[in-house]
Amino acid sequence: MTLLAIETTCDETATAILNPKGEVLSHLLYSQIHQHERYGGVVPELAARAHLEKLAPLVDQAFKDANIHPHDLSAVAATAGPGLIGGVVVGAMYAKGLAASLGIPFLAINHLEGHALTIRLTHNIAFPYLLLLASGGHCQFIHVKDLGDYELLGQTIDDAAGEAFDKVARMMGLPYPGGPVIEALALKGNSRAFDFPRPLYKRAGCDFSFSGLKTAVRHVIEEHPEALPEDIAASFQQAIIECMCDRTRHALEMLKTPVTAFVIAGGVAANKAIYTALSDVAKEYTLEAFAPPLNLCTDNAAMIAWAALERFKKGIVNDLSFEPRPRWPLTELKGA
Ligand code: KG4
Ligand code: ZN
Repeated sequence: MTLLAIETTCDETATAILNPKGEVLSHLLYSQIHQHERYGGVVPELAARAHLEKLAPLVDQAFKDANIHPHDLSAVAATAGPGLIGGVVVGAMYAKGLAASLGIPFLAINHLEGHALTIRLTHNIAFPYLLLLASGGHCQFIHVKDLGDYELLGQTIDDAAGEAFDKVARMMGLPYPGGPVIEALALKGNSRAFDFPRPLYKRAGCDFSFSGLKTAVRHVIEEHPEALPEDIAASFQQAIIECMCDRTRHALEMLKTPVTAFVIAGGVAANKAIYTALSDVAKEYTLEAFAPPLNLCTDNAAMIAWAALERFKKGIVNDLSFEPRPRWPLTELKGA
């Protein structure tokens, strides 16, 4: 039951090979960041073209790293959405072609399910758990009840958290992706220098909103040219942290049944200040907080391979006619 997975939903071309025990035999990632940097965000056409160019050599390298032959595979998986459709089509078509030529099953994996289950690969966390999925495209609380059984508790009504980091970085003339750069700058700044708004703070439910915060940062940048970038970064990050802590308390209170853990996933989970603050909130509810290691928080193919392995072990595979989906909410998934 050795499995190859391909991830091409955004600006990373990634492959991974897992053995039946869930051990990662190969984990490769080609980042296109430098191709998109100057545009302040990912350009879909450029991304699709780069995936097309890089995918085949990466797959070849994966077999070499894992020291296996394509015929040793039991299945081939690819992320089939949600994401930038050009890239998704490149990855899914490649995986389907390989699976068909080897006469083995193909699995169409949801990118969000990959993020949602990574913690079971790294920390063996049991269902059910509360998940905060915070990335460049998503910001949502999900009650992860079982494989394929996800209840959406709340989500952003405008920008995703990572998107807010990226947009604020762009306004400040900082490179893409903004999250790591702002986190590093914030370490040197005063988080109380600016009193930025905390949208939806203490409101019912656990939805997020970041667009008002982003606008407030823009005003400070325009009206206070003397403001120190590190103070803006620290104050902005502090506002995000306080919003996330408040929303997490609400999400935890909304759960009707106990959970085993609080899991933070997606690129924003790589932020140490956010992770630490959210761990403290979890402790208030006698829960431990978990986040995957840095290289598995951001997009990668090991998370896709793991989700595929969980599905494959339950006998779930997909038809070659499965069509890639630019939009594909977790709540539309099914388990066994
Ligand atoms: O999960 P991911 O790699 O891709 C998506 O599926 O979106 O997340 C990327 C997002 C970007 O918006 C990036 O700025 C953000 O995660 N991010 C961070 C940090 N590292 C990455 N945000 C805050 N702090 C970080 N250290
Ligand atoms: Zn992602």
